[in-house]
Amino acid sequence: MSLVSMFKGKGPSGFGYGSTAEDVTAGLDLSGRTVLLTGCNSGIGKETLRVLAMRGAHVIAAARTLEKARAACDSVGGETTPIACELSDPASVLACAAEVIALGRPLDAVICNAGIMALPKLEQKHGYELQFFTNHIGHFILVTSLLDSLADKGRVVVVSSDAHNGAPSEGIEFDNLSGEREYGSWSNYGQSKLANLLFARQLAKRLEGTGKTANSLHPGVIHTNLARSMNPIAKVALAIAGPLVLKSAAEGAATQCYLAVHPSVEGVSGKYFADCNVSKSSSKGRDDALAEKLWVVSEKIAAEVTA
Ligand SMILES: NC(=O)c1ccc[n+]([C@@H]2O[C@H](COP(=O)([O-])OP(=O)(O)OC[C@H]3O[C@@H](n4cnc5c(N)ncnc54)[C@H](OP(=O)(O)O)[C@@H]3O)[C@@H](O)[C@H]2O)c1
Repeated sequence: MSLVSMFKGKGPSGFGYGSTAEDVTAGLDLSGRTVLLTGCNSGIGKETLRVLAMRGAHVIAAARTLEKARAACDSVGGETTPIACELSDPASVLACAAEVIALGRPLDAVICNAGIMALPKLEQKHGYELQFFTNHIGHFILVTSLLDSLADKGRVVVVSSDAHNGAPSEGIEFDNLSGEREYGSWSNYGQSKLANLLFARQLAKRLEGTGKTANSLHPGVIHTNLARSMNPIAKVALAIAGPLVLKSAAEGAATQCYLAVHPSVEGVSGKYFADCNVSKSSSKGRDDALAEKLWVVSEKIAAEVTA
């Protein structure tokens, strides 16, 4: 528990900043449920894997390589299936989706957790800026390939961030998705996290009336490997101050576990959560025309890179 947790209360859900993944799943028997999780080998993904498997869910645990996914699964108890999914490689994402479909188990939840943050220099895949491509397009291809595998009340949970507030003023720079006109490590990370949020919002619209849901979330600020691209001074500061002021991985994993399995959010869709409660996104995060445009552009990119 961090120092901050001691001063923050709980919200209407009964959970709050200091709630852990174990707290929000306490008393739940998840046996018979199947959850697909990306980024299972590190940070809040690893804690999500541990806790959901401990509660009895079958977790299909994806990492960049099968070896990493296997090692993560071997480190926890419960029923798990390791799977490779390199989100910046569309062929790997499609192979992952095909393998999940072949398992023949309806997905009660898909947790789009994997991500990269604040790459110091512009990097690209298939001509697109790498954070946008990995964090958004990779998950877009994965989830849209698996929509028919969602269970009747299946939940799509997309890990965004309050860093979406730092996206460029127009939200998504559709005329600069390569990053070549202008690149900023934080603004491009913010754009990718806004894309995560808008994807969940638009997916929720498309799922209306089906019983299936989609929500996005800010997990909190947590000291994980995500900071690997930050400058060395910032990393040292984080290492010293982190345990006091940042969430623990157990606290950071709470909101996604809550959204994936808690009964009180059944049927809740199209919302942005933080600390296990509904939260307010930026105005761009509530822009339905932007969400619709992003969906159309993402479909085109997905078709182009998987052709
Ligand atoms: N930590 C925070 O303060 C914070 C705040 C807001 C939002 N978030 C979000 O929370 C999520 C989890 O982050 P974390 O803090 O747990 O960071 P983390 O410890 O760095 O974990 C990130 C996970 O994503 C995986 N990943 C990265 N690139 C990938 C790719 N191309 N294909 C497949 N998997 C890939 C990583 O795999 P490798 O280990 O193999 O690289 C790792 O498993 C991210 O979406 C992040 O944006 C975190």
